[in-house]
Amino acid sequence: MVFKKIREHPAARERILRERLTEPLHLNLASLCVAGFGTFRAKVACDLIYRPHYAYGLLSAADQALESGVKEFTAVEFGVAAGEGLLNLCELSRRIQRATGVRIKVVGFDSGAGMPVAQDYRDHPEEFQSGDFPMDHEKLISRLPDNCELILGPVRETVPAFVQESMTSDTPLGFASFDLDYYTSTKEAFSLLTSSDAAKYLFLPILYFDDIVLPNYNNWAGELLAINEFNAEHEYRKIEQYRFLRSRRIFRNARWLDQIFLLHVFDHPRMKMSHTMRRMPNVYF
Ligand SMILES: C[S@@+](CC[C@H](N)C(=O)[O-])C[C@H]1O[C@@H](n2cnc3c(N)ncnc32)[C@H](O)[C@@H]1O
Repeated sequence: MVFKKIREHPAARERILRERLTEPLHLNLASLCVAGFGTFRAKVACDLIYRPHYAYGLLSAADQALESGVKEFTAVEFGVAAGEGLLNLCELSRRIQRATGVRIKVVGFDSGAGMPVAQDYRDHPEEFQSGDFPMDHEKLISRLPDNCELILGPVRETVPAFVQESMTSDTPLGFASFDLDYYTSTKEAFSLLTSSDAAKYLFLPILYFDDIVLPNYNNWAGELLAINEFNAEHEYRKIEQYRFLRSRRIFRNARWLDQIFLLHVFDHPRMKMSHTMRRMPNVYF
């Protein structure tokens, strides 16, 4: 997969090579061994999985689920288009279930008819126009496994219905990828994050934002504006970039590290849980 992407997409090729070839030589050599003989978890740690941001987000959510005794969680992709990302999520969900035992319910949201009409400059009309990224839904649906649902229609309508009817505390949200390109669509999709039942979320769901990387993206338009407004409007839910993720990774040049955010759920049941008393160690004793 990675090799196909590198062959067919010059921009992706340039970015992947630039990011990877500027990493320390000994780490790149070690990752060759991991590519040949490593476990799935080691491959995720070394960014050797196609769409490493999806692999990281799903595996981190699975670990969080394990820690809190949750057997299954929900992973959402906003903006499906041709479906490469959704099928990638499905493939990764199988591998993660094998590695951790945690099941993943995958849900994709898309209009099914490509981009709607941009409202104003906040939707970056210089980048996108109505009808971009159409979908062949029959072909895509025929490829989807049983653990995946594709929900078609404007997110303004489909997401609130999903939160109300299908999202439960048995399958809390663990990971969501936002790739709807527009400010307006992203803001509408954020209704996924505002259920009054905080048990419908893992303690710290992982969010990926695709459309924050170009030089013309800014805090006054697009996904970043939607995030800022969400944070201003919701006292108990905040979206914040995962600061210090870079320092926790082996390969630190990857662009996706800046695209991972966390949903902080201040009214989560875990906020009310007591735990056994903790003590600080003291090396002088
Ligand atoms: C860039 S594409 C997604 C690509 C996909 N994530 C991938 O990685 O292959 C953006 C998609 O968002 C969808 N979209 C944008 N605004 C929407 C809205 N308000 N409701 C539903 N779908 C929307 C479009 O139909 C389009 O297919």
